[in-house]
Amino acid sequence: MFNVAVVGMGWWGKIIVPLLKTSKKISVSTVVEINAAGIADFAKEHGVKVVTGFDEVLKDPSIQGVVLCTPHTQHTEQIIAAAKAGKHVFCEKPLSMTRADVLRAIKAVNDNKVALAVGHERRFEPPIIELMKVVKSGEIGVPLQVEANFSQDKFLTLAADNWRLSGKEAPAGPMTATGIHLLDLSVGVFGEAERVFASVKQLGSQLVNGDTLAILASFKNGGHALISAILATPFEGRFAVYGSKGWVEVRDKTHPEKPTGWTFTKVVRDKERETREYPPAPNVLANLEAFVDAAEGRAPYPVPQSQMIANISALEAIFKSAASAQIVNVES
Ligand SMILES: NC(=O)c1ccc[n+]([C@@H]2O[C@H](COP(=O)([O-])OP(=O)(O)OC[C@H]3O[C@@H](n4cnc5c(N)ncnc54)[C@H](O)[C@@H]3O)[C@@H](O)[C@H]2O)c1
Repeated sequence: MFNVAVVGMGWWGKIIVPLLKTSKKISVSTVVEINAAGIADFAKEHGVKVVTGFDEVLKDPSIQGVVLCTPHTQHTEQIIAAAKAGKHVFCEKPLSMTRADVLRAIKAVNDNKVALAVGHERRFEPPIIELMKVVKSGEIGVPLQVEANFSQDKFLTLAADNWRLSGKEAPAGPMTATGIHLLDLSVGVFGEAERVFASVKQLGSQLVNGDTLAILASFKNGGHALISAILATPFEGRFAVYGSKGWVEVRDKTHPEKPTGWTFTKVVRDKERETREYPPAPNVLANLEAFVDAAEGRAPYPVPQSQMIANISALEAIFKSAASAQIVNVES
């Protein structure tokens, strides 16, 4: 078993630990949480040791990898510290907040020959895997445009001082929470973005960082992505790719936290419209197990580093565009 420590035991860390306990490939013995008292009951229930210092797990030879579920601005330095200690790294999204930082993080993992994986579990949803297969096969022709939406109203109840609502940890309102997943999938379809225009407004809530985000990203190979992410409307999840011969769409039935599956639709010119229902699938665990397969040399991690860099390069440009109301070129 590949033994990991989960770092940051808030909302997501508490989802990851019980999931790992069901895995035949990964075990979790230790968690790191600066607020240890707050998770004593959870730790007892799940049989994990709690430490308060990240350094402790970096020194522990029984731990082969870390799963970082900490606030966004900590990710880069934690990836670098873990890599230098010879630990494989699974990091929640976003890997970094700037292109310069993601390049530093990736250099550290490569210099130290450890695996790097990122919490973009949407890539592991069976209907998204099918969508990518259809796009790459050429069945819908030349991919022209992505239309995507990931909206929710979960943050309406967060305290105003929560880090997830801060302009430093979460610039451009919903971008680092939900928009980033759609940007990652768009990069999976088109590759590197060339320029972006992003507009974020506070229209329907008390979320001062913005609750309504619209992005138009233009990609080097000619395609566009139209990304919508809203924090003041009930859940909606949709990812569609339009091509010169047809289009494909994946629609979530419910919020991924309480999944009930997806509806997959494919329309190819002169053929009958196809609609398929997919049951829920353990995509978060599939991503973590793909990380272990990469760390143990069984299979390359399915998201190449070039796409991790392309995603964060576009993310940085989106932050700049949302702040300036200007079109911003993506660094490459
Ligand atoms: N992949 C997904 O779909 C998904 C979903 C939710 C959250 N996330 C990501 O997970 C990460 C955490 O988000 P969250 O919602 O769980 O936040 P959270 O605020 O609920 O939890 C973060 C936890 O980290 C702890 N912490 C902060 N600094 C620490 C440190 N240096 N060492 C140890 N613990 C530390 C905090 O005390 C807190 O308990 C973010 O990157 C977020 O984007 C991903």
